[in-house]
Amino acid sequence: GADHAIRPKRLVDYIGQPRVREQLDIFISAARGRDESLDHTLVFGPPGLGKTTLANIVATEMGVGLKSTSGPVLERAGDLAAMLTNLQPGDVLFIDEIHRLSPVVEEILYPAMEDFQLDIVIGEGPAARSIKLDLPPFTLVGATTRAGLLTSPLRDRFGIVQRLEFYSIDELTEIVVRSARLLGVESDRDGAREVARRSRGTPRIANRLLRRVRDFAEVRAQGRVDAEIADLALNMLHVDHHGLDHMDRRLLLAMIEKFDGGPVGIDSLAAAISEERDTIEDVIEPYLIQQGLMMRTARGRIVTRQAWQHFDLAPHERAPD
Ligand code: ADE
Repeated sequence: GADHAIRPKRLVDYIGQPRVREQLDIFISAARGRDESLDHTLVFGPPGLGKTTLANIVATEMGVGLKSTSGPVLERAGDLAAMLTNLQPGDVLFIDEIHRLSPVVEEILYPAMEDFQLDIVIGEGPAARSIKLDLPPFTLVGATTRAGLLTSPLRDRFGIVQRLEFYSIDELTEIVVRSARLLGVESDRDGAREVARRSRGTPRIANRLLRRVRDFAEVRAQGRVDAEIADLALNMLHVDHHGLDHMDRRLLLAMIEKFDGGPVGIDSLAAAISEERDTIEDVIEPYLIQQGLMMRTARGRIVTRQAWQHFDLAPHERAPD
């Protein structure tokens, strides 16, 4: 089945993020009780932790429609104006990667968020006209990897700000057990736990690995997932026992082998592994930092003693070729 089949649709089915769940539950109940739209909500955190899922849940729980778009897709003011004028009262407008809005589009968003007013200039030169339109009340749900990427006027217009954290192994185990049930995968708890342990604290990764482990189990183990089958399948996928993937190891090993563990500047590191700086900052390093394998310091990135140990090296030992 596709992702939408296993994505939770209600807040009660959402596992983990207890603080986010508790707060949203209260804010949604209160808004519903007053028959108002929910305040604009910013959700931030590393990819795959459930930002889009939460936007969908907000719309479902509020009993309203959802329109989705993303920062880079909204190239011109008119693109956003078209989305805004298509909303029904109370609808959720979800803007993924909201930190990538162009300044002209962002300008349109301010009065829309604050006063439900669309202020748009049409035409150019002496024929230019400014139009003001009333919009229906709506809830903007914005998603971004780091709140610090937003301009402060945009950030200030969100009444609700929620940070998503990496999931614990127990939480991810619950998610894998639930996904296995919905996908009809025969998995025991230890099998689910092994997938969870090796999913970088990230439900999207856990669900992807579960599908690959299922493939392996169907061909090699009559479709039954246990800890041993999960381990064999994940080894085949080069997901190591700590759950680090190929890119994680490449990053840490580059810091160790090329920079003696650091400190190394982010741009030098990006060049050393031929990866985008943004990918390192938004996708790869947050989990490695959370796991205590590397740190950001004022002088650059450094690996910790744990990272050397992960590769069976003493600190400052050279890795074998
Ligand atoms: N699938 C992906 N994320 C989930 C979550 N937080 N809870 C339940 N199922 C999920």
